[in-house]
Amino acid sequence: MLNKHILGIAALWVVLTAAGVVAVLSFDPFPVAASEEAGIVDGAFRILAVLAVPVFTFVVVALIYSTLRFRTKGEPVADGPPVRTHRPFIAAWFVITTGLTATMIIHPGYTGLTELRDLSDEEPDLVVMAEARQWAWKVTYPAQQVFSRTELVLPLDTSTRFDVTSVDVLHAFWIPAFRIKIDSVPGLLTQTYATPNALGDFDMDAGFRLQCAELCGLGHAVMAIPVRVVSQGEFDAWIAEQSPIR
Ligand code: CUA
Repeated sequence: MLNKHILGIAALWVVLTAAGVVAVLSFDPFPVAASEEAGIVDGAFRILAVLAVPVFTFVVVALIYSTLRFRTKGEPVADGPPVRTHRPFIAAWFVITTGLTATMIIHPGYTGLTELRDLSDEEPDLVVMAEARQWAWKVTYPAQQVFSRTELVLPLDTSTRFDVTSVDVLHAFWIPAFRIKIDSVPGLLTQTYATPNALGDFDMDAGFRLQCAELCGLGHAVMAIPVRVVSQGEFDAWIAEQSPIR
């Protein structure tokens, strides 16, 4: 009797899980990716989405199956038999979910962070300082001795380190197309790295922007400047037109 129900739930679970995995893998939720780091982050997201499917479908299938199969059919409503703990089920649930979580901490968690750290160049080709204030960004190129408040321009295939800070409250440095984000903290220098590997600008995709990602007051949502990835020649020409650091 019980086995028939378990078989029914298992069959539905397998079918829905297969459909769910196909749906997750064929659906592309990502905005344009334009840095070497982005592939690692998107890969981790895909693994998490695929692993979440069997857990989600199991809960939904058990819920829907039980709701339909064990309905009372016009009979007087009475208390059902008491439900007692099913130890093997509890043990299996604990072992499987803990195993899944531990697996994800190792991969893509640890392995992905290691990959990102390997891309964090100790001697980057370019350093950009990003200073946040309510509600604007100022990007400074120390080696080139210029700054801009209107645009962040980066040369293609150039390993870049961002030195991030704030002059007032907490902000966060976020470039969606690069999949990088780091807190911007007054009195502190935080760092993040990216190597842009695709040309692009804000008009092409809204992911090409430096956006504040920490609620910082009334102007938080509009605290953004466009990001543009260009050739080295265009970059040099742009640098020549910017205001010098005083
Ligand atoms: Cu600055 Cu939100």
